[in-house]
Amino acid sequence: MSSQPPPLIPRHIAIIMDGNGRWAARRNLPRAAGHREGVRAVRRTIEAAIEHNIRWLTLFAFSSENWRRPADEVTDLTFLLRHYLRSELNELAEAGVRLHVIGERDRFGPALEAELATAEARTRTNDRLHLVIALSYGARAEIVAAAQRIARETKSGTLNPDAIDEAGFTAHLATAAMPDPDLVIRTSGEQRLSNFLLWQAAYAELIFDDTLWPDFGASNLADAIAEYARRDRRFGARPSPVPAQ
Ligand code: FPP
Repeated sequence: MSSQPPPLIPRHIAIIMDGNGRWAARRNLPRAAGHREGVRAVRRTIEAAIEHNIRWLTLFAFSSENWRRPADEVTDLTFLLRHYLRSELNELAEAGVRLHVIGERDRFGPALEAELATAEARTRTNDRLHLVIALSYGARAEIVAAAQRIARETKSGTLNPDAIDEAGFTAHLATAAMPDPDLVIRTSGEQRLSNFLLWQAAYAELIFDDTLWPDFGASNLADAIAEYARRDRRFGARPSPVPAQ
């Protein structure tokens, strides 16, 4: 392992975008208005991430638990996502963004699934910012799916159970090709991971911002990056020595 200190800019930021409903309720607006405004915050955050040279940005857009919301809210969210893809794909592609999707995308139906695949293929050669959208994503389901893949491979004899290590397990996750998040941000003041990247965020710094997601923007991201730079990441190793006075 390298003795170099980790860089001060997080390579991978993952965001739990929370508070759209409360943003709308405070304005006596329907929840859909909060989600619509949330899309504007997505746009601002992607632009700001590019400005800061962040290489990976993962956005938790729809959790596997979100299917329990009323059908009309699920429809609104799906519509917004489709609209976002159609209206912004060109701009994202031109800005050097590569799109990745994790989660049970097939649950959104073949039409949206195909559009997601097209967007991924269209941006495949970009690498300025890797934008990962987590859709119908749940970390426990992802871990179970990885365990199933491993079990199948050991059963068929292509994988030796004694050779399974952390890196080998990681390689069976949906995020196999991605670096672990260095920083996880959750908005709206809630302080939970809510089944988001549980394996991958083992050593991530956590920042809880009271801002409701629709109000999130460049200054929030800059503050989080500055706070990250002040953190002392030790990955379980001994504390850094206190600098001499
Ligand atoms: C949480 O707020 C937010 C969501 C469940 C959806 C996030 C989706 C978007 C921002 C729009 C689509 C995304 C992309 C990538 C185009 P909440 O509804 O749980 O808020 P509440 O806790 O205040 O009720």
